[in-house]
Amino acid sequence: MSQAWWRGAAIYQVYLRSFADGNGDGAGDLTGLRGRLPYLKDLGVDAIWLNPWYPSPMADGGYDVADYRGIEPVFGTLGEAEKFIAEAHGLGIKVIIDVVPNHSSTASAWFQEALADPGARERFWFRDEPNDWQSIFGGPAWTQVADGQWYLHLFAPEQPDFNWDSAEVRADFEDVLRFWFERGVDGFRVDSAALLVKDETRWEDLDPVHDVYRRWREIADEYGDRILIGELWLPDQERFARYLRPDELHTAFNFDFLSCPWEPAELRRVIDLTLATHTPIGAPPTWVLANHDVTRPVTRYGRADTSFAHGGALHGSPSDPVLGVRRARAAALLAMALPGCVYVYQGEELGLPEVEDLPDAARQDPMYARSGGANRGRDGCRVPLPWSGAEPPYGFGGAPTWLPQPEGWAALTAEAQSADPGSMLTLYRRALSLRRELLGDGTMTWLDLGPGVLAFTRDSGLTSVTNLGAEPVRLPPGDPVLTSGPLTDGHLPADTTAWLYDRQT
Ligand code: NOJ
Repeated sequence: MSQAWWRGAAIYQVYLRSFADGNGDGAGDLTGLRGRLPYLKDLGVDAIWLNPWYPSPMADGGYDVADYRGIEPVFGTLGEAEKFIAEAHGLGIKVIIDVVPNHSSTASAWFQEALADPGARERFWFRDEPNDWQSIFGGPAWTQVADGQWYLHLFAPEQPDFNWDSAEVRADFEDVLRFWFERGVDGFRVDSAALLVKDETRWEDLDPVHDVYRRWREIADEYGDRILIGELWLPDQERFARYLRPDELHTAFNFDFLSCPWEPAELRRVIDLTLATHTPIGAPPTWVLANHDVTRPVTRYGRADTSFAHGGALHGSPSDPVLGVRRARAAALLAMALPGCVYVYQGEELGLPEVEDLPDAARQDPMYARSGGANRGRDGCRVPLPWSGAEPPYGFGGAPTWLPQPEGWAALTAEAQSADPGSMLTLYRRALSLRRELLGDGTMTWLDLGPGVLAFTRDSGLTSVTNLGAEPVRLPPGDPVLTSGPLTDGHLPADTTAWLYDRQT
């Protein structure tokens, strides 16, 4: 029997506000997404993960949720969400949604109740005195209310943290999971998954958080074949692995891989570490190059420093676009050949660069404002997608778009790339299709082709070779079924990946 779908899926991340605009107001929505489902089917993804689609004042791009059982009117209606789930399923695509259990929105009914009545505050973290904790977005993590008390917000002030010692909070989230499972969603991406439970001295990775996920896993299992994916930025692998024990979350994002510089020894170390962490607990690894919080890969890989660091430290540092695209193509094939799940963040398949020259007045990420502009924020990877045409809004929908699109994206539209055999889109389509056909499950075995080369064979007979050195390398035996760039005299040039297939294996 083949493995469970979530053990080897290609999962496409939809940042709904920037995906496709169906009603012409300049913001993406469910109508736009439904219209583009055939594009995702052609791309060859197994599942879609959507960033929060709930009613929200959008103080943090929807991660300030006012009602976990509704749909933000800018995006559509609950009825339309149900239609979308059914249509995606009709095309064989699973649907994963975001759940945000660490914090609420100041616009939520519970928080409004807490403001009005000091006796109704146990669902949040209210104290008479703040401590010295700092918000992850900058500035103090406490805000004072009119009667003098302070509430905790690890992120923006509009995102008050829930108190997970409250039985009511726990019960409500269990009900939220059921609400959406009943409507057919196939899983949840759990936002800030290690932060929920706090005590007076610590706010991350406290042991009782695991009780929450054991309970959530029981609920997911009741519905069969549904999954929970953790957003866990934990450097300690042993602590990270605890969340993926067989009765907790199914998988988690691999941020070590995402942050890794384009260097062979470092990548090899991260891949080995990932496998060593996941194999003993039987959880599938995941391979992630991008998401809505980080610099677009073609920009990052074109810089002298190819790592990703939070805080926008490298924002605006020079990037060679040709080199960046070349490496991003090679990295995509590397990620897709590894055992486990792979994620594709919308626009990655179009090779979109980070938009670093957004006008300051257009920036919406609270990280920008909260840092007094020192951190340029994450808007540059959230610019609305270019679908067709020669100028903004590039077939996205109405204009102006909620974040401005740059001039010069005509060649990057999905329409322009569809017809181009050498485009990033064609590479992703071909790679996802071959991945489905040739990869299978099973493990990988490293091949030694020299220190600058990452080469491995999968049990199915697919071999992936990535050359991160300066000199071309000789390819091992096998049919080259896909390469991220042209070969030179049968050799693999620098910053290129080749997939070879040996039917005899
Ligand atoms: C993680 C999300 O990915 C990010 O976009 C958000 O700002 C924080 N969680 C806070 O919800």
